[in-house]
Amino acid sequence: MLSRTMRTLHQLIGLSGAALLLASCGGDPNSPGLEYMPDMYRSPAVEAYVDYGQDPYYFEDSVVLKQRGTQSARLPVAGTIPFAASQEKAHFNFPYPYPATIEGYEAAGANLRSPIPMTQENVDKGKVIYEKFCQHCHGAKGDGEGSVVKNGNYPQPPSYTGPLKDLPEGKIFHSLMYGRNVAMGSHAGQLTKEERWLVTRYVQYLQNGGTLVAAAPAPADTTAPAPLK
Ligand code: HEC
Repeated sequence: MLSRTMRTLHQLIGLSGAALLLASCGGDPNSPGLEYMPDMYRSPAVEAYVDYGQDPYYFEDSVVLKQRGTQSARLPVAGTIPFAASQEKAHFNFPYPYPATIEGYEAAGANLRSPIPMTQENVDKGKVIYEKFCQHCHGAKGDGEGSVVKNGNYPQPPSYTGPLKDLPEGKIFHSLMYGRNVAMGSHAGQLTKEERWLVTRYVQYLQNGGTLVAAAPAPADTTAPAPLK
């Protein structure tokens, strides 16, 4: 009697197990089926530049919509200095001390000195950058006869050998940093600080009719913001 009940019970368990197994084979093949621990399937995937609105599964729509309106890639904390693998080049990551004002422009002209030596090698590197980013406006010789100017599509920049002949390296760099008036845009987004210094060397080379010039003397005023060293 007991053994028969046991057998029936075993049969029942076996049958329901088989039914469960078979049930999982049917239906939508893309369905994950029963989610036993849903939060393990749906981990919060926070990635840069991606909408990471809170999962409506847990939060109300209003919270979700508000989240989706915000930026996921946050700006670094003010004063953050990017890591530089090379100690020699770490100073390129230091903050630029001169503000985008007339006073900042004048102070950069008086105190800011290039950390890059005036060598043929650096001038050649600067030339490559110049040909890609500057020549179409400033012309191959820096005379302001670039192709977009000659087409009549852009105001002519002053010549490096004319009005800009004595423009100091600090002002050249400052204008690359922030732009100059309305016609010359900032190049801080396109060129790294090192590239801006390299192209500054090439501008100086053009200012001097294609000759290497001696480095400008260090500023006398030691109370001004320290030049990049
Ligand atoms: C879209 C055209 C254009 C491009 C590209 C351009 N410039 Fe200029 N640049 C100008 C114009 C126009 C001026 C004159 C701005 C003024 O004084 O109003 C100027 C001015 C300058 C000056 C003088 C700034 C000063 O302090 O008076 C320098 C130096 C200079 N550019 C260098 C460069 C370098 C280096 C590049 C490339 C990295 C470059 N420019 C790219 C149009 C351009």
